[in-house]
Amino acid sequence: MANNRTFTMIKPDAFAKGNTGAIIQKITNSGFKIVALKLTKLSSEQAAEFYAIHKEKVFYNKLIDFMTSGPIIAAVLEKKNAVDDFRALIGATNPEDAAEGTIRNLFATDVTFNAIHGSDSDENAAIETAFHFKNDEIIAY
Ligand code: TYD
Repeated sequence: MANNRTFTMIKPDAFAKGNTGAIIQKITNSGFKIVALKLTKLSSEQAAEFYAIHKEKVFYNKLIDFMTSGPIIAAVLEKKNAVDDFRALIGATNPEDAAEGTIRNLFATDVTFNAIHGSDSDENAAIETAFHFKNDEIIAY
């Protein structure tokens, strides 16, 4: 089952702009099944843990400030080849490079305020899912 699931966050910029509904619609229209979903807000500690890999990067502090600036929507999505297909659906990190019609092309502002997160591997999808959801919050149906 592992490679059939990915983890996503609709980031604070997209939530604040009222784009949550349009983004969820696009995700489900693209064949992803929502198996867990919540509105939450990252604490500084949670954001630091989630983005620990970027700790030494020049953009790290800006990223943490942004990700803790408002509510996010966290979700677990199911689809065959979920991680790769979802990365294709969200588009490149920098919206200037994101393909036409991708979520970042449509809804991101720049490389930091880029609307949405998608796990980059099956291993990280599992780690990130466990970070946000207990097993009984993931619904099999
Ligand atoms: P990264 O893991 O490289 O991208 P992705 O989200 O596409 O997997 O970077 C994580 C987040 O860090 C990215 O979504 C936004 C932020 N970021 C910046 O703010 N500036 C940058 O130059 C980069 C590369 C990323």
